[in-house]
Amino acid sequence: MLAAQISAFGPPDKVIELVEQPEPGEPGPGEVIVETELVPINPADVLNLEGKYGAAPPNLPMTPGAEGVGHIAKAGAGISHVKVGDRVLVPGPGTWRARIKAPAKVVFPLPAGVDPRQLAMLRVNPPTAWLMLHEIVAVKPGQWVIQNAANSGVGHCLIRFAREEGVKTVNVVRREELIAPLRAFGGDVVLADGPDLDARVRAAIGDGALPLAIDAVGGSATQRLARCVSEGGTVVNYGLLSGEACTVDGRETVFRNVTLRGFWLRRWFMETPPEAIAALYRKLAGKVTDGTLVVEVEAVYPIRDIKKAVAHAARGGRSGKILMSFANA
Ligand SMILES: NC(=O)c1ccc[n+]([C@@H]2O[C@H](COP(=O)([O-])OP(=O)(O)OC[C@H]3O[C@@H](n4cnc5c(N)ncnc54)[C@H](OP(=O)(O)O)[C@@H]3O)[C@@H](O)[C@H]2O)c1
Repeated sequence: MLAAQISAFGPPDKVIELVEQPEPGEPGPGEVIVETELVPINPADVLNLEGKYGAAPPNLPMTPGAEGVGHIAKAGAGISHVKVGDRVLVPGPGTWRARIKAPAKVVFPLPAGVDPRQLAMLRVNPPTAWLMLHEIVAVKPGQWVIQNAANSGVGHCLIRFAREEGVKTVNVVRREELIAPLRAFGGDVVLADGPDLDARVRAAIGDGALPLAIDAVGGSATQRLARCVSEGGTVVNYGLLSGEACTVDGRETVFRNVTLRGFWLRRWFMETPPEAIAALYRKLAGKVTDGTLVVEVEAVYPIRDIKKAVAHAARGGRSGKILMSFANA
């Protein structure tokens, strides 16, 4: 069967290859074979191919991919919560392959009749946005949250979750042309990043409370957010898109009691009971179904064009995510 693989780290389109791997075989009791339909390419995948992901590098050769959507192709004996044909989240890691054998209990069933492209992006970004908004600081309706890289997949999810709760968002982007579309999407305030960000934020929100900042960029961008939060506020760093270490000045941490902390979804998976994880995915799948959660897709490539797809995903200035399809693979 077809699978993506890397044997060395380097430029994504140079190191990624399509290879033939052995079929996963027949499912045993309690096991299923999931056939992959669509997988997204996330910034963490690109960093993994480059050997720059923050966590310990994986052993090589490695099949990348943290998420995707597929369906049950075969089911072993003794399985009741999914059946052949059901659409499911592809169990990871290593989702960039045509078929995967997994214990049925780790396979999450998805609603029928929903855009599979949105379901392919359900596993990573929506829970990240949800948990950062709900589990770090108690943000009350009417208060503000600020985020950078606000046009990202995570950023779109956060805007919609905050709106549902009556929490207002300041959305920071690095391209002026994103301001109008992100406002139309539901961002209350949208600003281009810059050295005077805090002054422009205060001009926009007045004396509104802003207890939480969500930082995907790191470097000096972290400091610009730290200056925007209210006294005693929290900055959560969850990405290092700039490739630079987070900087926060003592004027914020010492004199304004601002806290910088991190968030990593994988840690949440490790520390959370399976029932609680399944409950969150049920809620989030419902939000895809009712149209609350929508992330733009810029292109879907056939898996055979994987080199073009990863090169495209690694470029900035996209209007949405890059997905790869295993149809006819
Ligand atoms: N900690 C966790 O558990 C966790 C979980 C999920 C995601 N993440 C992280 O969340 C971030 C967003 O992921 P995503 O899938 O939502 O992204 P995405 O949809 O692929 O969008 C990428 C975003 O990054 C921006 N960007 C890229 N390089 C940048 C730079 N040097 N400075 C400022 N902005 C930059 C892009 O801006 P332009 O459009 O202007 O290029 C765009 O907004 C990534 O860092 C990812 O690793 C972390």
